[in-house]
Parts: sequence; C-alpha cells; structure tokens
Amino acid sequence: MITTLTWTADGVRFLDQTKLPLEEAYVLASTYEEVAEAIVTMVVRGAPAIGVSAAYGVALGTLKTKATTTHEFAPEFEQICARLAGTRPTAVNLFWAIDRMKALFATLAGLGTPLEEIKGKLLAEAHAMYAEDIAACKAMGAFGGELLPSDGGVLTHCNAGALATCGYGTALGVIRSAVEQGKRIHVFADETRPFLQGARLTAWELMADGIPTTVICDNMAASLMRAGRIQAVVVGADRIAANGDVANKIGTYNVAILAREHGIPFYVAAPWSTIDLATATGVAIPIEERPQHEVTHHAGTQLTPNGVGICNPAFDVTPASYITAIVTERGVLRAPYAESLREMELVAR
Ligand code: MRU
Repeated sequence: MITTLTWTADGVRFLDQTKLPLEEAYVLASTYEEVAEAIVTMVVRGAPAIGVSAAYGVALGTLKTKATTTHEFAPEFEQICARLAGTRPTAVNLFWAIDRMKALFATLAGLGTPLEEIKGKLLAEAHAMYAEDIAACKAMGAFGGELLPSDGGVLTHCNAGALATCGYGTALGVIRSAVEQGKRIHVFADETRPFLQGARLTAWELMADGIPTTVICDNMAASLMRAGRIQAVVVGADRIAANGDVANKIGTYNVAILAREHGIPFYVAAPWSTIDLATATGVAIPIEERPQHEVTHHAGTQLTPNGVGICNPAFDVTPASYITAIVTERGVLRAPYAESLREMELVAR
C-alpha cells in the first residue's frame, strides 16, 4: 500500500508528491511549522490527507513544546492551530481536523489533565483520524463500486486516491473497489493542469495497482465522451456545502457540464469530514488562489510571455444539480442533497 504519510518517532514522514512520478522521495517534517510548509508546498495534498497531516502537526507541536503546564501551553497551542489552519483555505477537512484536536485539548484542559498526558492523547487522536480515514475510504469504495459499470471507461479528475488520503482513496477507492468486485474498468485520468495531479499522481498510483489507465489532456474529455468511451465520471471533493454544491479541483465543473451534456453519470466520493453543513451553498466556499508560477512555468521552463496576466484558482464549484450521487462512508446520497445530507447527519448522531 502507498504510504502517503506516516508517523515516526522523529515526526511526520511524507511521500513527496511534488517529485512523483519520477522520484519516490520522502520528506520528514520534525516540527509543526514543517508540517504546515509541506501542506502549503503540496508535498502532501488532497483534502483528507491535509486534514490528518494537520492533526499530526498539532500533536507534533504539542509534543515539542517547552512549556511545562497546560496553562502555560494554552496560548502556544492556539498559535500552532492557527499556523496549520492558515495553510490552505478550501478543503474543509483541514479545519475539521484542527477543530477536533482543539475540542479534545479544551476538554482535557478543562478536566485539569497534566500536559504530559495531553500530549499522548492528542497523538492518539491523530492516529484515530488516520485509521478512520482509511476505513471511510474502504466503506465509500464498497458503496460507490456498485454504481460503476461492469465494463467500461471511467473518467476521473485530479488525484482523489491513496495519495490524497491515508490510503485507498475516495474516487480512486470507488474505482479500486469496482475492480475488486470483478468489474472491467478502464480509467481515463484528466492530466489536471496546472499541477498535473492526474498525469503524475493518479496515473502513478493506478499503474502500481495494475488498473488500466490512460492519461488525457483536460481538453480531450468532451471528444472521448462523444465517442462513447466514457460510461461514468467519479471525482473527489474538498468541501461539500449543505445544498450539495461541491468544491473540487479546478476543471471539475467543466467535466460535470460535459457529463450532463452526454448523459453520463457524475459521481462525487468524499468522507463525511468533507461535508460542511455550516456553509449553505458553494458560493460561500473560499477558493484558494495558487502562485502564478504554477501556470507560467513547467518544471522550471517558462511557458508564457513575461508580464502576461495570470489567474490560478485551485478549485471550482460544481452545482449540486450536476451531481448524480454523492458517495460517502455512510452511504450513497441522492438529490435533493439539502435533505439527504441533513437526514444522514441526523441518523449518524
Ligand atoms: O490541490 P489538491 O491537489 O490538494 O486538490 C485535491 C483535490 O481537488 C481532490 O480531488 C480532493 O482533495 C479530494 S481528495 C480525496
């Protein structure tokens, strides 16, 4: 299994996703600031992986404090959480994970728990999130695998695989599960300009599993759909609003429109930690603007003229009306999503 991130005695070890697929290199983050840097620079990326990394960052910052009492440490804890929360704005899993660590700290501090004991409990909480993430991917894979055709082409955008989670993946987990169910799936991976998560990461991890995969440039999807080569689309999500609008990698919305036009089902797979019932619609989801050099340059080579205007939003929002189903570890949700999401939340309480 691909180990996207691992806890070690020296800190968090990340498989460096900026180097894949040419090099399988690892980065050790031995401070919480280094964890934050790994998230910003996309050494680790993908909503669930970012969330669990931040949880480990909080645990790491707590383990390394020079403070000796919970009271003395409290302001530093806030600072650690704020630094990690300031890394990337769109994936709600980041804030979900940090809030969970904050809630545990507040409970333990309120009970007068000694700092040494809190350190162990925060690390245990991060380990729990890691294990839960893999279990959620497996569960949504089983639900989603049923939805895919027994034989056919499945298009995915970006990388919502083992590399974007603690293992198995969301959208790629659905594909893996369909393959495990005996379905004959051929994956079409959008290259996903500008960071090329599809061409570099999805292709790499599916090839490692022996799942037939073809990389296409983002502008080829319509043509392949028209040619009858794609029977379903499955993508991940960074944040799902209360009405079912989905923020995901820039270009996802294009794919959803194309799928609608060609009568192809468009599935979104995401764990419940990606669902943000506090955000009413996609309009309120903050969209990260990434550095211009990701568009102007590729592997150090300049592609665009000096001084030209550049726009680099990392995500877009697909309106709920384009989504055939949302696959979670709790089950498959259908429209109207405002109702099905709320009901599923109530049932799980
Ligand atoms: O900018 P990235 O690579 O972090 O964006 C990742 C995506 O958009 C994924 O599709 C999403 O986080 C879901 S990952 C299971």
